[in-house]
Amino acid sequence: MCPIPISNPSSDDDIRVHTDSDSQSSLRVFAISDIHTDCAQNMQLMTSLSSTEYQNDVLIVAGDISGDLSIVQATLQNFVSKFKLVFFVPGNHDLWCKKHSGGDANSSIDKMYKVNKICDQLGVLRGPHLIEGTENSQACWIVPLLSWYHGSFDTEPDLHYLDLPPVNHIMRDFYSCVWPTGMDASGERVAQYMDLLNDRATAQTPSGRLTGKRLWQHIRDSGVPVISYSHFLPRLELIPEKRFLFFPHLAKAAGSRFLGERVARLSPDVHIFGHTHFGWDMVLDGVRYIQAAVGYPRERNNVNSPLGIGASTKEPAPKEPLLIFDSTGDGRFQSELSAKWSDYYKTHPREPSNLRLASWVRPHYQKEADEWERAQASDLDPAAGVSVCGSDAKMQLSQPPLTEVTRTMPQSTSSLLPSIAIPDTPCPGDARRFQGSSGKLDLDKIQTYLKQIQCKQIQC
Ligand SMILES: [Fe+2]
Ligand SMILES: [Fe+2]
Repeated sequence: MCPIPISNPSSDDDIRVHTDSDSQSSLRVFAISDIHTDCAQNMQLMTSLSSTEYQNDVLIVAGDISGDLSIVQATLQNFVSKFKLVFFVPGNHDLWCKKHSGGDANSSIDKMYKVNKICDQLGVLRGPHLIEGTENSQACWIVPLLSWYHGSFDTEPDLHYLDLPPVNHIMRDFYSCVWPTGMDASGERVAQYMDLLNDRATAQTPSGRLTGKRLWQHIRDSGVPVISYSHFLPRLELIPEKRFLFFPHLAKAAGSRFLGERVARLSPDVHIFGHTHFGWDMVLDGVRYIQAAVGYPRERNNVNSPLGIGASTKEPAPKEPLLIFDSTGDGRFQSELSAKWSDYYKTHPREPSNLRLASWVRPHYQKEADEWERAQASDLDPAAGVSVCGSDAKMQLSQPPLTEVTRTMPQSTSSLLPSIAIPDTPCPGDARRFQGSSGKLDLDKIQTYLKQIQCKQIQC
């Protein structure tokens, strides 16, 4: 049980009730995430979407518009003008509340309610909603799920031989969000709190207005297609393993076990997610998981970007929403799409016990990787060489055309982590490399690390 009371910081916090009384003959459902329209190029992409093509369609926006409320408002207003129905759930960027992040709220909870208010004023939906069927079209449920990440979501072995900075000292969220006393984002409480808010969802159903477990059971048993969505990852299998990532700890700030359990109970046909900026389309235990992130221009402009999702792995990152479902006739989902990483995992099992860095990551950690491999080799039959965790040949064969998982915002290191003081906490044992002479974490050393992995800041 979450020790944080689920109180009502404002009167507009109820997840909005909505019915689709204005049925139509056909309707398509599109999805998109991580549009980051505080980037001018991204705003341009979204405002240039057709003003006529989607007028009878639904758009799911799976979080990460901006830390700036005025940009959130302008972006949602733009979508409302182009689509019949717009759904939204906040991502981490949307709950940044500190001024240096473009935020303007006392806390990230306060910020969430301000975002909710904007949604309600614009008619953007943020609760479960049944799109009713007609003679010519299939009904479907659209189900937003609030969530936040927690480190214990990552249950796979760490690359123990690397000195990596703790996630809460390197992810921008930890500097740009403020949580009430008792809600330590380094633990599970924020993730648990956000998950429990979903129990307050209310919706009109053919059986009347339902809430809580009765609503969730009704949706699950409704017999119509169900599309749920969240910003964060419900399953660890939706992110590449540590050895493939420039920042191997990314999974500690990416997903939620609470969300995963909720999705498993709901058992939707499709679950849309975002946050990691990896294109994804994969079925796990009967649920199809899709990510169609827009990401940042530098990610889209990289020919090897893992953002893309489409007919082939050469597909560029989505510049417009991805078609998920067409209600015409009996209703049908988009056929399964290619994306670099989900294609990889369709033919390769996860090997979390394989601690050997991928060839494109290794140069960033050369010294530590060399030392570890020498130690591995000396512990084994010398004839085995260093191929203790998979051969080079295997790595080459299995290597997806990967680029980066790190993100850039500030253009100079002087603007990195603005107005931030390193927390007055002892340097954790797993971060010796970042320890200053006082025994505390040293910001300069963290900046040096970020440069080493060619990143100015980590944010998804
Ligand atoms: Fe995100
Ligand atoms: Fe994002």
